[in-house]
Amino acid sequence: MTSDLTTVSVDLGTRSYPIWIGSGLLARSGELLGDRLVRGRTVVVTDETVASLYLEHLQGSLGMPSETIILPAGEATKSFAHLEWLCEQLLEAGVERKDCILALGGGVIGDLTGFAASILRRGCGFAQVPTTLLAQVDSSIGGKTAINATAGKNLIGAFHQPVAVLIDTETLDTLSDRELRAGYAEVVKYGLIDDPAFFGWCETHAQALLAGDSEARSQAIEISCLAKARIVGLDERETSGTRVLLNLGHTFGHALEAEAGFSDQLLHGEAVALGLLLAFDVSVLLGLCPQADAQRLRIHLKSLGFATTLSECGMAHRGARMIAHMAQDKKMDGGRLPFLLARGIGQTFLATDVDLNIVRDFLDQAT
Ligand code: NAD
Ligand code: GLY
Repeated sequence: MTSDLTTVSVDLGTRSYPIWIGSGLLARSGELLGDRLVRGRTVVVTDETVASLYLEHLQGSLGMPSETIILPAGEATKSFAHLEWLCEQLLEAGVERKDCILALGGGVIGDLTGFAASILRRGCGFAQVPTTLLAQVDSSIGGKTAINATAGKNLIGAFHQPVAVLIDTETLDTLSDRELRAGYAEVVKYGLIDDPAFFGWCETHAQALLAGDSEARSQAIEISCLAKARIVGLDERETSGTRVLLNLGHTFGHALEAEAGFSDQLLHGEAVALGLLLAFDVSVLLGLCPQADAQRLRIHLKSLGFATTLSECGMAHRGARMIAHMAQDKKMDGGRLPFLLARGIGQTFLATDVDLNIVRDFLDQAT
């Protein structure tokens, strides 16, 4: 035993799996994942940055030989070209259905590897070993896998659940401040969706979390994983109106990311943070949400250094362009776009009757 461990279960019948959370867990990967590396053949997929930091450590602790496939770091890796290359590499390595592919890295590696695992030989096992805050609280859990298309973000993908998620919270020590803060957007989202008490916790503890306080970090990760596991357990395929709430801020966020060309100009989490605020602002505009709640969110995000206006990201006065991106949203239904809006902090709901002209005018006028 080298570390304490918390286990959160994702309950999905025969596809249920554990999320192990703890500091130093990479050193226990062989012990924890052992039962799931059914045939003993393991391929670790990672990116260049994470490989230089954690690959050797992970492989050393697996207690069995493993092969590696290393991709470039960054959002551009979630592409058809890299998917094709990865699948060819996995086939060349002789990966079979019952072998296990380990996705070691952030959401980019997790999404791409998970999608490759879903289509390789019509479905191979994979486990997630997330190393960014964003991936530890959101993307590694729940089986959404995808690549980006010219038409937009995450438009080509599949639901494919991992067999386990192993979170070593210590890996966040090497993450840049900017990436850590971006990941925090997906943490505070859980408070905004349906847990106002957790939003209050965030207001009190976020500064410490981002400054590296390990207690605050672990608590935020555990609460987020519990929330995500609960929601995924209720609505795995986003069909019953529950999981869709996790998209709060993402319709705006994905449009902002598309406008930024999926580049470092605006990280996914940064786009989501501004998207959360835009969703609250539109909710206020439509008379659904008290101004005070949107203001509380604005103050919180601003205090952490997030951009809270479109102009700070160079995205002001782009209403029509943003609406065009939104038209590719996966939630589009019969030509209409449902929006995640809020009646207040912790009261997110899906609005199916929002007039896109109002949203376009709002985006054109907001500074
Ligand atoms: P990322 O995977 O690009 O990682 C960010 C950067 O941090 C990369 O350069 C990476 O090399 C580096 N890095 C990773 N771990 C590190 C560590 N421990 N120390 C130092 N550097 C490290 O980005 P991300 O923010 O993790 O994920 C964003 C992606 O996740 C987006 O594509 C988004 O669409 C996707 N996402 C998916 C889901 C889902 O449910 N599947 C949910 C949310 C977001
Ligand atoms: N990140 C959104 C979801 O998993 O549904």
